[in-house]
Amino acid sequence: YRCGAVVLAAGSGKRMGGSTKKQYLLMGGKPVLYYSLKAFEDSFIDEIVLVTGAEDISYCQQELVEKYGFTKVSRVTEGGKERYHSVVCGLTALSNCDYIFIHDGARPFVTGGILERCLTDATKYGACVAGMPVKDTIKIADAKGMIRETPDRNLVWMVQTPQVFDAPLIRSAYQKLLAEEEKLLQQGIHITDDAMVVETLMRHPVKLTEGSYQNIKITTPEDMRVAESFLAD
Ligand code: CTP
Ligand code: MG
Repeated sequence: YRCGAVVLAAGSGKRMGGSTKKQYLLMGGKPVLYYSLKAFEDSFIDEIVLVTGAEDISYCQQELVEKYGFTKVSRVTEGGKERYHSVVCGLTALSNCDYIFIHDGARPFVTGGILERCLTDATKYGACVAGMPVKDTIKIADAKGMIRETPDRNLVWMVQTPQVFDAPLIRSAYQKLLAEEEKLLQQGIHITDDAMVVETLMRHPVKLTEGSYQNIKITTPEDMRVAESFLAD
């Protein structure tokens, strides 16, 4: 199979704060974004499109792609306002392939094993996302912070990336999302991951694939300390 990847790094990192965007913070002397590019570069993936802010394209080209010799990165392209806009930018820049891996550049601990498990499930189910069963009990609350429901913990997963799809399926899903964007916004539906687009707009089932508890997303300052400790392992 020909496999393509969209690595997302066009966010502004509001929850992290600080003057350097979280994907460029140094971790073990290298930018956070280096680690996921390295995992994809060293894998069976054929092509990588890196999506960043317009102001960071030349930094990414020089300080990541050229400096570390990531030969699979075919394009560094500009993202959009919301994550799903950036995904669309990435899909547009990516050439034709059989399976598309969508990955958060802020998840440095993705491994070759996770990529392989995801490809296996993508070929079997057409759509899969890395995830792990939650460790804590999860509550569903109302707007006032009162508990409404306690879902069965065995059925609750936290989802990660990569999220991997049959290429025509994910391309049609995002096309449909753009066409219905206005309607979804009015319904108060917030698109936060790729599986959601495939579930809600294509009504296509999505498999949960074993990720890892180390495959965290760098989101708030304490995550950087956790990440440094994983690197030291
Ligand atoms: N992302 C993107 N384009 C956007 C928003 C997010 O490419 N318009 C990327 C981020 O760079 C990140 C991934 O999507 O790698 C997951 O998003 P998130 O963790 O929410 O990152 P940010 O949006 O940057 O952070 P925050 O929500 O705290 O502002
Ligand atoms: Mg965000």
